[in-house]
Amino acid sequence: NNKKITIAIDGFSSTGKSTIAKQLAKQLGYVYVDSGAMYRAVTLYAMQNNFIGETYFKVETLIEQLPTIDISFVFNEALGFAEVYLNGINVEKNIRTLEVSGFVSKVAAVPEVRKQLVDQQRKIGENKGVVMDGRDIGTVVFPNADLKLFVTASAGTRAERRYKELIERGDRVDYNAVLKNVQERDYMDSNRKDSPLVKAKDAIEIDNSNMSVEEQFEIISDLVNKAILRA
Ligand code: CDP
Ligand code: CDP
Repeated sequence: NNKKITIAIDGFSSTGKSTIAKQLAKQLGYVYVDSGAMYRAVTLYAMQNNFIGETYFKVETLIEQLPTIDISFVFNEALGFAEVYLNGINVEKNIRTLEVSGFVSKVAAVPEVRKQLVDQQRKIGENKGVVMDGRDIGTVVFPNADLKLFVTASAGTRAERRYKELIERGDRVDYNAVLKNVQERDYMDSNRKDSPLVKAKDAIEIDNSNMSVEEQFEIISDLVNKAILRA
């Protein structure tokens, strides 16, 4: 059975969603879409144009500018996955800072932002053969996805994973600031009105607090093979 399926991976911040999604896309020859990168790119745009800061959010101005914000993915042969571009510029590194993480949940709560990005995500996935990770992929973007995963891990584990990543790329961050950001985003993403982070009824929950990357890949590969057989 070489039928292409749609795989939706949702869950809390730093649970390992993109790690799983990239591995699956590589193994299956599917397209990987990091939907969080799209929300991060819009956030970076808002920051660069001073539409958002510690004490203000010019949300109407951002909404007006939305049609001029072009987000695209360009496959990087050397890395083996697609990098995100904002108006033609590679922003893959700039969107991963703790500063962007501090504003992104506010930007992602704006319904107009979500509508534009969800439309684009559905277009990318219209021919199946896609693995997309985010917060609302199984609930809103692809409610008919062939396989839905909901990934969880304890907040401390997730903050440690993210802290390690940021330090490794040379960002000088404080562990407690990372933990606070993870917890604040969990709360904001789960409690917003438009497309909150919730487990889809038909999603399979995986708690990987005590799983290695290899262990989780083994378990998930098995679920994927079964979903392909069902399709
Ligand atoms: O990688 P990390 O778990 O830190 O987050 P991400 O996947 O890059 O997503 C960053 C933020 O974008 C999330 O905290 C959400 O506020 C937002 N997001 C969303 O609202 N819907 C999605 N489908 C993906 C991300
Ligand atoms: O995409 P998301 O924010 O959910 O997480 P990620 O960027 O895939 O993973 C965050 C970090 O946790 C990465 O450095 C992974 O290698 C690590 N990780 C881990 O150590 N053990 C797991 N079972 C899953 C992820």
